Amino acid sequence: MPKTIIIFFGPPGSGKGTQADLLAKKIGWKKISTGDLLRAEVAAGTDLGKLAAKYLKTGKLVPDKLLINLVDHGFKVKSGGVIFDGYPRNSRQQKDLLAMLERKVKKSDPVYAIEVSVSDEEVKRRLGLRRMCACGAVYHLTYNSPINDGLCDICGRKIFTRNDDQPEVIDRRLRIYHRTGKVLLGYWQKQGKLIRINGEQPIKKIHEEIVERLKGLRVI
Ligand code: AP5
Repeated sequence: MPKTIIIFFGPPGSGKGTQADLLAKKIGWKKISTGDLLRAEVAAGTDLGKLAAKYLKTGKLVPDKLLINLVDHGFKVKSGGVIFDGYPRNSRQQKDLLAMLERKVKKSDPVYAIEVSVSDEEVKRRLGLRRMCACGAVYHLTYNSPINDGLCDICGRKIFTRNDDQPEVIDRRLRIYHRTGKVLLGYWQKQGKLIRINGEQPIKKIHEEIVERLKGLRVI
Protein backbone atom coordinates (compact mmCIF):
# COMPACT_ATOMS: atom_id res chain seq x y z
CA MET A 1 0.00 0.00 0.00
CA PRO A 2 1.29 3.51 -0.75
CA LYS A 3 2.08 5.61 2.30
CA THR A 4 2.14 9.11 0.94
CA ILE A 5 -0.24 10.89 -1.42
CA ILE A 6 0.58 13.97 -3.47
CA ILE A 7 -2.14 15.57 -5.57
CA PHE A 8 -1.28 18.01 -8.35
CA PHE A 9 -3.78 20.77 -9.13
CA GLY A 10 -3.58 23.48 -11.75
CA PRO A 11 -5.35 24.71 -14.87
CA PRO A 12 -4.98 22.85 -18.15
CA GLY A 13 -1.51 23.55 -19.51
CA SER A 14 -0.12 24.73 -16.17
CA GLY A 15 2.56 22.06 -16.40
CA LYS A 16 1.16 19.87 -13.62
CA GLY A 17 1.58 16.74 -15.77
CA THR A 18 5.18 17.67 -16.58
CA GLN A 19 5.92 18.25 -12.90
CA ALA A 20 4.08 15.13 -11.72
CA ASP A 21 6.16 13.13 -14.21
CA LEU A 22 9.48 14.62 -13.12
CA LEU A 23 8.65 14.03 -9.46
CA ALA A 24 7.49 10.46 -10.06
CA LYS A 25 10.72 9.70 -11.94
CA LYS A 26 12.87 11.28 -9.26
CA ILE A 27 11.36 9.44 -6.32
CA GLY A 28 10.13 6.29 -8.08
CA TRP A 29 6.47 6.60 -7.12
CA LYS A 30 3.46 5.65 -9.17
CA LYS A 31 1.85 8.54 -11.06
CA ILE A 32 -1.85 8.39 -11.77
CA SER A 33 -2.91 10.81 -14.48
CA THR A 34 -6.60 10.36 -15.25
CA GLY A 35 -6.08 12.23 -18.55
CA ASP A 36 -3.31 9.79 -19.64
CA LEU A 37 -5.34 6.78 -18.49
CA LEU A 38 -8.42 7.97 -20.37
CA ARG A 39 -6.43 8.67 -23.54
CA ALA A 40 -4.95 5.16 -23.32
CA GLU A 41 -8.49 3.72 -23.07
CA VAL A 42 -9.55 5.74 -26.12
CA ALA A 43 -6.49 4.58 -28.09
CA ALA A 44 -7.16 0.95 -27.14
CA GLY A 45 -10.82 1.27 -28.20
CA THR A 46 -12.15 -0.14 -24.91
CA ASP A 47 -15.78 0.37 -23.82
CA LEU A 48 -14.61 3.01 -21.36
CA GLY A 49 -12.56 4.67 -24.10
CA LYS A 50 -15.57 4.79 -26.41
CA LEU A 51 -17.66 6.42 -23.69
CA ALA A 52 -14.92 8.88 -22.71
CA ALA A 53 -13.82 9.96 -26.22
CA LYS A 54 -16.50 12.60 -26.80
CA TYR A 55 -15.82 14.25 -23.44
CA LEU A 56 -12.08 14.44 -24.04
CA LYS A 57 -12.51 15.85 -27.52
CA THR A 58 -14.81 18.63 -26.34
CA GLY A 59 -12.96 19.37 -23.09
CA LYS A 60 -15.87 18.38 -20.84
CA LEU A 61 -15.33 16.35 -17.69
CA VAL A 62 -15.81 12.62 -18.08
CA PRO A 63 -18.62 11.39 -15.75
CA ASP A 64 -17.31 10.68 -12.24
CA LYS A 65 -18.48 7.09 -12.13
CA LEU A 66 -16.28 6.18 -15.11
CA LEU A 67 -13.16 7.25 -13.23
CA ILE A 68 -13.40 5.52 -9.90
CA ASN A 69 -11.91 2.18 -11.03
CA LEU A 70 -9.02 3.88 -12.77
CA VAL A 71 -8.17 5.70 -9.57
CA ASP A 72 -8.75 2.76 -7.26
CA HIS A 73 -6.23 0.72 -9.25
CA GLY A 74 -3.49 3.11 -8.13
CA PHE A 75 -3.83 1.93 -4.57
CA LYS A 76 -3.03 -1.64 -5.53
CA VAL A 77 0.59 -0.82 -6.41
CA LYS A 78 3.49 -1.43 -4.07
CA SER A 79 5.05 1.98 -3.88
CA GLY A 80 6.21 4.52 -1.30
CA GLY A 81 3.54 6.86 -2.51
CA VAL A 82 1.11 7.85 -5.24
CA ILE A 83 1.11 11.07 -7.23
CA PHE A 84 -2.23 12.17 -8.67
CA ASP A 85 -2.33 14.39 -11.74
CA GLY A 86 -5.74 15.70 -12.83
CA TYR A 87 -7.80 13.98 -10.14
CA PRO A 88 -9.92 15.11 -8.34
CA ARG A 89 -11.57 17.78 -10.51
CA ASN A 90 -14.86 18.43 -8.73
CA SER A 91 -16.41 18.06 -5.29
CA ARG A 92 -17.82 14.60 -6.03
CA GLN A 93 -14.41 13.27 -7.05
CA GLN A 94 -12.78 14.90 -4.03
CA LYS A 95 -15.33 13.20 -1.75
CA ASP A 96 -14.63 9.86 -3.46
CA LEU A 97 -10.89 10.33 -3.07
CA LEU A 98 -11.14 11.32 0.59
CA ALA A 99 -13.31 8.27 1.28
CA MET A 100 -10.74 6.10 -0.47
CA LEU A 101 -7.91 7.62 1.54
CA GLU A 102 -9.78 6.98 4.76
CA ARG A 103 -9.99 3.30 3.87
CA LYS A 104 -6.54 2.81 2.43
CA VAL A 105 -4.12 5.26 4.04
CA LYS A 106 -3.32 5.68 7.75
CA LYS A 107 -4.40 8.96 9.35
CA SER A 108 -0.76 9.75 10.14
CA ASP A 109 0.40 9.25 6.53
CA PRO A 110 1.15 12.49 4.68
CA VAL A 111 -1.30 13.76 2.07
CA TYR A 112 -0.40 17.02 0.29
CA ALA A 113 -1.85 19.04 -2.55
CA ILE A 114 0.38 21.04 -4.89
CA GLU A 115 -1.14 23.89 -6.89
CA VAL A 116 0.84 24.87 -9.98
CA SER A 117 -0.53 28.32 -10.70
CA VAL A 118 -0.34 29.89 -14.13
CA SER A 119 -2.34 32.70 -15.82
CA ASP A 120 -4.87 31.96 -18.57
CA GLU A 121 -2.68 33.85 -21.08
CA GLU A 122 0.29 31.60 -20.33
CA VAL A 123 -1.96 28.51 -20.56
CA LYS A 124 -2.93 29.52 -24.09
CA ARG A 125 0.71 30.11 -25.08
CA ARG A 126 1.66 26.70 -23.77
CA LEU A 127 -1.19 24.64 -25.16
CA GLY A 128 -1.02 26.27 -28.59
CA LEU A 129 2.48 24.85 -29.09
CA ARG A 130 2.23 21.65 -27.05
CA ARG A 131 3.01 18.43 -28.86
CA MET A 132 2.85 14.94 -27.50
CA CYS A 133 3.81 11.40 -28.39
CA ALA A 134 1.80 8.19 -28.20
CA CYS A 135 4.29 7.01 -25.55
CA GLY A 136 3.07 9.83 -23.26
CA ALA A 137 6.04 12.19 -23.63
CA VAL A 138 5.06 15.88 -23.70
CA TYR A 139 6.90 18.66 -25.55
CA HIS A 140 6.56 22.37 -26.25
CA LEU A 141 7.88 23.68 -29.54
CA THR A 142 9.55 26.66 -27.85
CA TYR A 143 10.06 25.83 -24.17
CA ASN A 144 10.77 22.10 -24.31
CA SER A 145 11.33 21.01 -27.89
CA PRO A 146 12.46 17.55 -29.03
CA ILE A 147 16.05 17.13 -30.23
CA ASN A 148 14.96 15.93 -33.69
CA ASP A 149 12.27 18.07 -35.29
CA GLY A 150 8.83 16.44 -35.03
CA LEU A 151 10.10 13.21 -33.44
CA CYS A 152 9.90 11.94 -29.89
CA ASP A 153 13.23 11.88 -28.01
CA ILE A 154 12.21 8.74 -26.17
CA CYS A 155 10.74 6.43 -28.81
CA GLY A 156 11.41 8.24 -32.13
CA ARG A 157 7.74 8.29 -33.17
CA LYS A 158 6.06 11.35 -34.73
CA ILE A 159 4.77 13.85 -32.19
CA PHE A 160 1.30 15.37 -32.65
CA THR A 161 -1.13 18.01 -31.36
CA ARG A 162 -3.69 16.78 -28.82
CA ASN A 163 -7.18 17.05 -30.25
CA ASP A 164 -8.36 19.06 -27.21
CA ASP A 165 -5.64 21.70 -27.71
CA GLN A 166 -7.89 23.80 -29.98
CA PRO A 167 -8.67 27.40 -28.89
CA GLU A 168 -12.40 26.89 -28.21
CA VAL A 169 -11.77 23.63 -26.33
CA ILE A 170 -8.99 25.24 -24.29
CA ASP A 171 -11.44 28.03 -23.33
CA ARG A 172 -13.98 25.48 -22.13
CA ARG A 173 -11.36 23.54 -20.13
CA LEU A 174 -10.26 26.77 -18.48
CA ARG A 175 -13.86 27.72 -17.64
CA ILE A 176 -14.42 24.33 -16.02
CA TYR A 177 -11.21 24.64 -14.01
CA HIS A 178 -12.09 28.11 -12.73
CA ARG A 179 -15.60 26.93 -11.80
CA THR A 180 -14.52 23.85 -9.86
CA GLY A 181 -10.87 24.26 -8.80
CA LYS A 182 -11.25 26.96 -6.14
CA VAL A 183 -13.45 24.88 -3.82
CA LEU A 184 -11.11 21.91 -4.02
CA LEU A 185 -8.04 24.00 -3.25
CA GLY A 186 -9.90 25.73 -0.40
CA TYR A 187 -10.31 22.37 1.30
CA TRP A 188 -6.58 21.58 1.20
CA GLN A 189 -5.66 25.05 2.31
CA LYS A 190 -7.93 24.75 5.36
CA GLN A 191 -6.22 21.47 6.21
CA GLY A 192 -2.83 23.21 6.04
CA LYS A 193 -1.86 20.79 3.25
CA LEU A 194 -1.65 23.09 0.25
CA ILE A 195 1.70 23.86 -1.38
CA ARG A 196 1.45 26.75 -3.83
CA ILE A 197 4.00 26.95 -6.63
CA ASN A 198 4.49 29.70 -9.18
CA GLY A 199 4.16 27.75 -12.45
CA GLU A 200 5.52 30.61 -14.55
CA GLN A 201 9.15 29.67 -14.10
CA PRO A 202 11.39 27.32 -16.07
CA ILE A 203 10.43 23.63 -15.81
CA LYS A 204 13.63 22.64 -13.99
CA LYS A 205 13.33 25.46 -11.46
CA ILE A 206 9.75 24.49 -10.59
CA HIS A 207 10.78 20.86 -10.17
CA GLU A 208 13.60 21.85 -7.82
CA GLU A 209 11.25 24.04 -5.81
CA ILE A 210 8.71 21.22 -5.45
CA VAL A 211 11.41 18.80 -4.30
CA GLU A 212 12.73 21.32 -1.79
CA ARG A 213 9.28 22.06 -0.38
CA LEU A 214 8.46 18.35 -0.02
CA LYS A 215 11.83 17.66 1.60
CA GLY A 216 11.22 20.55 4.00
CA LEU A 217 7.96 18.89 5.05
CA ARG A 218 9.73 15.50 5.32
CA VAL A 219 7.34 14.05 2.76
CA ILE A 220 10.17 12.71 0.56
P1 AP5 B 1 -5.73 16.11 -18.80
O1 AP5 B 1 -4.88 15.38 -19.71
O2 AP5 B 1 -5.56 15.95 -17.35
O3 AP5 B 1 -5.68 17.64 -19.23
P2 AP5 B 1 -5.65 19.00 -18.40
O4 AP5 B 1 -5.99 18.94 -16.96
O5 AP5 B 1 -6.45 19.91 -19.21
O6 AP5 B 1 -4.15 19.32 -18.33
P3 AP5 B 1 -3.14 19.21 -19.47
O7 AP5 B 1 -2.66 17.79 -19.61
O8 AP5 B 1 -3.66 19.86 -20.70
O9 AP5 B 1 -1.98 20.16 -18.98
P4 AP5 B 1 -0.89 20.03 -17.84
O10 AP5 B 1 -1.19 20.97 -16.74
O11 AP5 B 1 -0.64 18.60 -17.47
O12 AP5 B 1 0.33 20.63 -18.63
P5 AP5 B 1 1.58 19.92 -19.36
O13 AP5 B 1 2.54 19.39 -18.35
O14 AP5 B 1 1.10 19.01 -20.42
O15 AP5 B 1 -7.28 15.80 -19.13
C1 AP5 B 1 -7.74 15.83 -20.45
C2 AP5 B 1 -9.23 15.54 -20.46
O16 AP5 B 1 -9.50 14.26 -19.88
C3 AP5 B 1 -10.10 16.51 -19.66
O17 AP5 B 1 -10.43 17.67 -20.40
C4 AP5 B 1 -11.34 15.63 -19.39
O18 AP5 B 1 -12.13 15.50 -20.54
C5 AP5 B 1 -10.71 14.27 -19.12
N1 AP5 B 1 -10.35 14.08 -17.70
C6 AP5 B 1 -9.11 13.91 -17.18
N2 AP5 B 1 -9.17 13.77 -15.85
C7 AP5 B 1 -10.48 13.84 -15.52
C8 AP5 B 1 -11.19 13.79 -14.29
N3 AP5 B 1 -10.55 13.64 -13.12
N4 AP5 B 1 -12.54 13.91 -14.31
C9 AP5 B 1 -13.21 14.05 -15.48
N5 AP5 B 1 -12.59 14.14 -16.68
C10 AP5 B 1 -11.24 14.03 -16.70
O19 AP5 B 1 2.26 21.23 -20.01
C11 AP5 B 1 1.59 21.94 -21.03
C12 AP5 B 1 2.59 22.46 -22.07
O20 AP5 B 1 3.45 23.43 -21.46
C13 AP5 B 1 3.55 21.37 -22.61
O21 AP5 B 1 3.84 21.69 -23.92
C14 AP5 B 1 4.81 21.51 -21.72
O22 AP5 B 1 5.99 21.08 -22.38
C15 AP5 B 1 4.81 23.01 -21.46
N6 AP5 B 1 5.33 23.37 -20.14
C16 AP5 B 1 5.16 22.70 -18.97
N7 AP5 B 1 5.74 23.39 -17.96
C17 AP5 B 1 6.26 24.52 -18.50
C18 AP5 B 1 6.98 25.63 -17.96
N8 AP5 B 1 7.27 25.72 -16.67
N9 AP5 B 1 7.38 26.60 -18.81
C19 AP5 B 1 7.09 26.52 -20.14
N10 AP5 B 1 6.41 25.48 -20.70
C20 AP5 B 1 6.01 24.51 -19.89
